[in-house]
Amino acid sequence: MFVTLEGMEGSGKSTLLAGLAERFRAEGRSVLCTREPGGSGLGRALRPLLLDSRSRVSAEAELFLFLADRAQHAEEVLRPALEQGQVVLCDRYADSTIVYQGYGRGLDADRLLLLNEMAIRGLWPDRTLILDVPTELGLARARRRNALNGDAVEEGRFEAEALRFHAAVREGFLSWAERNAGRCTVLDAQASPEELLDAAWKALC
Ligand code: TYD
Repeated sequence: MFVTLEGMEGSGKSTLLAGLAERFRAEGRSVLCTREPGGSGLGRALRPLLLDSRSRVSAEAELFLFLADRAQHAEEVLRPALEQGQVVLCDRYADSTIVYQGYGRGLDADRLLLLNEMAIRGLWPDRTLILDVPTELGLARARRRNALNGDAVEEGRFEAEALRFHAAVREGFLSWAERNAGRCTVLDAQASPEELLDAAWKALC
Protein backbone atom coordinates (compact mmCIF):
# COMPACT_ATOMS: atom_id res chain seq x y z
CA MET A 1 0.00 0.00 0.00
CA PHE A 2 1.39 3.36 -1.07
CA VAL A 3 0.29 6.41 0.94
CA THR A 4 1.48 9.98 0.46
CA LEU A 5 1.08 12.91 2.83
CA GLU A 6 0.78 16.39 1.42
CA GLY A 7 0.14 19.89 2.69
CA MET A 8 1.86 23.15 3.35
CA GLU A 9 4.77 23.77 5.70
CA GLY A 10 3.74 23.37 9.32
CA SER A 11 0.68 21.24 8.57
CA GLY A 12 1.95 18.39 10.77
CA LYS A 13 2.85 15.80 8.13
CA SER A 14 5.86 14.36 9.99
CA THR A 15 3.95 13.81 13.23
CA LEU A 16 1.09 12.16 11.37
CA LEU A 17 3.47 9.99 9.37
CA ALA A 18 5.11 8.71 12.55
CA GLY A 19 1.69 7.97 14.10
CA LEU A 20 0.48 6.08 11.03
CA ALA A 21 3.69 4.05 10.88
CA GLU A 22 3.18 3.03 14.50
CA ARG A 23 -0.40 1.90 13.83
CA PHE A 24 0.53 -0.11 10.75
CA ARG A 25 3.43 -1.75 12.65
CA ALA A 26 1.11 -2.59 15.54
CA GLU A 27 -0.93 -4.54 12.97
CA GLY A 28 2.18 -6.49 12.02
CA ARG A 29 2.81 -4.67 8.72
CA SER A 30 6.28 -3.81 7.56
CA VAL A 31 6.48 -0.06 6.97
CA LEU A 32 8.85 2.15 5.02
CA CYS A 33 8.81 5.85 5.91
CA THR A 34 10.38 8.09 3.33
CA ARG A 35 10.20 11.61 1.95
CA GLU A 36 10.79 13.94 -0.95
CA PRO A 37 13.02 15.63 -1.69
CA GLY A 38 15.80 13.41 -0.37
CA GLY A 39 14.48 9.84 -0.23
CA SER A 40 17.26 8.29 -2.35
CA GLY A 41 21.05 8.57 -2.50
CA LEU A 42 20.84 11.02 -5.39
CA GLY A 43 18.00 12.84 -3.66
CA ARG A 44 20.06 13.40 -0.52
CA ALA A 45 22.61 15.22 -2.66
CA LEU A 46 19.87 17.28 -4.34
CA ARG A 47 17.95 18.22 -1.18
CA PRO A 48 20.29 20.97 0.05
CA LEU A 49 20.40 22.49 -3.44
CA LEU A 50 16.61 22.64 -3.47
CA LEU A 51 15.98 23.90 0.04
CA ASP A 52 18.91 26.15 0.92
CA SER A 53 17.66 29.74 0.93
CA ARG A 54 21.02 30.86 -0.46
CA SER A 55 20.74 28.87 -3.68
CA ARG A 56 19.44 30.76 -6.70
CA VAL A 57 17.40 28.38 -8.78
CA SER A 58 15.06 29.27 -11.65
CA ALA A 59 11.51 27.87 -11.60
CA GLU A 60 12.37 25.45 -14.44
CA ALA A 61 15.64 24.29 -12.90
CA GLU A 62 13.83 23.74 -9.60
CA LEU A 63 11.16 21.68 -11.36
CA PHE A 64 13.68 19.38 -13.02
CA LEU A 65 15.59 18.87 -9.77
CA PHE A 66 12.39 17.81 -8.00
CA LEU A 67 11.57 15.49 -10.90
CA ALA A 68 15.08 13.99 -10.88
CA ASP A 69 14.73 13.39 -7.16
CA ARG A 70 11.34 11.72 -7.72
CA ALA A 71 12.39 9.54 -10.66
CA GLN A 72 15.31 8.13 -8.67
CA HIS A 73 13.23 7.71 -5.51
CA ALA A 74 10.45 5.86 -7.37
CA GLU A 75 12.90 3.53 -9.08
CA GLU A 76 15.40 2.90 -6.29
CA VAL A 77 13.23 2.99 -3.17
CA LEU A 78 9.45 3.05 -3.69
CA ARG A 79 8.91 0.40 -6.34
CA PRO A 80 11.12 -2.23 -4.66
CA ALA A 81 9.49 -1.65 -1.25
CA LEU A 82 5.99 -1.96 -2.72
CA GLU A 83 7.00 -5.10 -4.61
CA GLN A 84 8.06 -6.60 -1.28
CA GLY A 85 4.61 -5.85 0.11
CA GLN A 86 5.66 -3.06 2.46
CA VAL A 87 3.38 -0.20 3.44
CA VAL A 88 5.10 2.90 2.06
CA LEU A 89 4.42 6.22 3.78
CA CYS A 90 5.90 9.12 1.86
CA ASP A 91 6.13 12.72 3.06
CA ARG A 92 5.38 14.67 -0.18
CA TYR A 93 5.33 13.29 -3.71
CA ALA A 94 4.03 14.16 -7.17
CA ASP A 95 1.15 16.35 -5.95
CA SER A 96 3.66 18.75 -4.33
CA THR A 97 5.12 19.47 -7.76
CA ILE A 98 1.72 20.20 -9.27
CA VAL A 99 0.85 22.47 -6.40
CA TYR A 100 4.13 24.29 -5.59
CA GLN A 101 5.56 24.54 -9.10
CA GLY A 102 2.13 24.83 -10.76
CA TYR A 103 -0.27 26.74 -8.52
CA GLY A 104 2.61 28.38 -6.60
CA ARG A 105 5.17 29.27 -9.27
CA GLY A 106 2.70 29.47 -12.15
CA LEU A 107 3.99 26.63 -14.37
CA ASP A 108 1.35 24.86 -16.43
CA ALA A 109 -0.32 22.16 -14.31
CA ASP A 110 -1.22 19.84 -17.22
CA ARG A 111 2.36 19.83 -18.45
CA LEU A 112 3.53 19.14 -14.91
CA LEU A 113 1.22 16.15 -14.81
CA LEU A 114 2.87 14.74 -17.96
CA LEU A 115 6.37 15.32 -16.59
CA ASN A 116 5.39 13.69 -13.31
CA GLU A 117 4.08 10.71 -15.28
CA MET A 118 7.44 10.41 -16.96
CA ALA A 119 9.25 10.50 -13.63
CA ILE A 120 7.08 7.97 -11.79
CA ARG A 121 6.07 5.66 -14.66
CA GLY A 122 2.60 4.98 -13.34
CA LEU A 123 3.50 4.76 -9.68
CA TRP A 124 0.65 6.86 -8.28
CA PRO A 125 -0.20 6.49 -4.58
CA ASP A 126 -3.18 4.39 -3.53
CA ARG A 127 -4.20 7.12 -1.12
CA THR A 128 -3.10 10.71 -0.58
CA LEU A 129 -3.85 12.59 2.61
CA ILE A 130 -3.82 16.36 2.25
CA LEU A 131 -3.39 18.20 5.53
CA ASP A 132 -5.14 21.54 5.36
CA VAL A 133 -4.25 24.36 7.71
CA PRO A 134 -4.81 28.14 7.48
CA THR A 135 -1.77 29.67 5.78
CA GLU A 136 -0.62 31.90 8.63
CA LEU A 137 -0.99 29.16 11.21
CA GLY A 138 1.07 26.73 9.11
CA LEU A 139 3.83 29.26 8.64
CA ALA A 140 3.86 30.14 12.32
CA ARG A 141 4.20 26.44 13.19
CA ALA A 142 7.01 25.98 10.65
CA ARG A 143 8.87 28.97 12.08
CA ARG A 144 8.45 27.64 15.61
CA ARG A 145 9.84 24.27 14.49
CA ASN A 146 12.83 25.97 12.88
CA ALA A 147 13.49 27.96 16.04
CA LEU A 148 13.31 24.80 18.17
CA ASN A 149 15.73 23.05 15.80
CA GLY A 150 18.10 25.98 16.09
CA ASP A 151 17.65 26.82 12.40
CA ALA A 152 17.13 30.31 11.09
CA VAL A 153 13.46 31.19 11.52
CA GLU A 154 12.87 31.26 7.77
CA GLU A 155 15.09 28.30 7.20
CA GLY A 156 14.32 27.30 3.64
CA ARG A 157 13.78 28.88 0.24
CA PHE A 158 10.13 27.92 0.39
CA GLU A 159 9.44 29.10 3.91
CA ALA A 160 10.95 32.45 2.96
CA GLU A 161 8.39 32.91 0.17
CA ALA A 162 5.73 35.61 0.51
CA LEU A 163 2.40 34.92 2.18
CA ARG A 164 0.75 35.21 -1.25
CA PHE A 165 2.75 32.23 -2.50
CA HIS A 166 1.70 30.09 0.48
CA ALA A 167 -1.94 31.14 0.10
CA ALA A 168 -1.79 30.01 -3.56
CA VAL A 169 -0.28 26.70 -2.40
CA ARG A 170 -3.08 26.14 0.09
CA GLU A 171 -5.77 26.91 -2.50
CA GLY A 172 -3.88 24.75 -4.99
CA PHE A 173 -3.95 21.72 -2.71
CA LEU A 174 -7.69 22.15 -2.16
CA SER A 175 -8.59 22.40 -5.84
CA TRP A 176 -6.16 19.64 -6.84
CA ALA A 177 -7.75 17.41 -4.18
CA GLU A 178 -11.16 18.12 -5.66
CA ARG A 179 -9.93 17.14 -9.14
CA ASN A 180 -8.55 13.90 -7.68
CA ALA A 181 -11.27 13.15 -5.19
CA GLY A 182 -11.02 9.38 -5.68
CA ARG A 183 -7.44 9.30 -4.37
CA CYS A 184 -7.14 12.39 -2.17
CA THR A 185 -8.69 13.05 1.22
CA VAL A 186 -8.42 16.50 2.77
CA LEU A 187 -8.00 16.48 6.55
CA ASP A 188 -8.37 19.37 8.96
CA ALA A 189 -4.88 19.79 10.36
CA GLN A 190 -6.06 22.19 13.06
CA ALA A 191 -7.35 19.15 14.93
CA SER A 192 -5.21 17.74 17.75
CA PRO A 193 -2.51 15.25 16.69
CA GLU A 194 -4.62 12.37 18.09
CA GLU A 195 -7.78 13.47 16.28
CA LEU A 196 -5.82 13.93 13.07
CA LEU A 197 -4.33 10.46 13.38
CA ASP A 198 -7.76 8.92 13.94
CA ALA A 199 -9.22 10.75 10.92
CA ALA A 200 -6.27 9.70 8.75
CA TRP A 201 -6.52 6.08 9.86
CA LYS A 202 -10.23 6.07 9.07
CA ALA A 203 -9.52 7.47 5.59
CA LEU A 204 -7.04 4.67 4.93
CA CYS A 205 -8.86 1.66 6.33
P1 TYD B 1 10.82 20.08 3.66
O1 TYD B 1 11.97 20.64 4.42
O2 TYD B 1 10.81 18.65 3.31
O3 TYD B 1 9.63 20.54 4.49
P2 TYD B 1 8.17 20.16 4.79
O4 TYD B 1 8.19 19.82 6.25
O5 TYD B 1 7.45 21.43 4.52
O6 TYD B 1 7.74 19.05 3.90
O7 TYD B 1 10.63 20.98 2.37
C1 TYD B 1 10.26 20.59 1.17
C2 TYD B 1 9.90 21.86 0.40
O8 TYD B 1 9.97 21.60 -0.99
C3 TYD B 1 8.51 22.32 0.70
O9 TYD B 1 8.52 23.72 0.90
C4 TYD B 1 7.73 22.03 -0.56
C5 TYD B 1 8.78 21.99 -1.62
N1 TYD B 1 8.50 21.04 -2.72
C6 TYD B 1 8.20 21.53 -4.00
O10 TYD B 1 8.14 22.75 -4.20
N2 TYD B 1 7.97 20.65 -5.01
C7 TYD B 1 8.05 19.31 -4.84
O11 TYD B 1 7.83 18.53 -5.81
C8 TYD B 1 8.37 18.81 -3.53
C9 TYD B 1 8.48 17.34 -3.29
C10 TYD B 1 8.59 19.71 -2.50
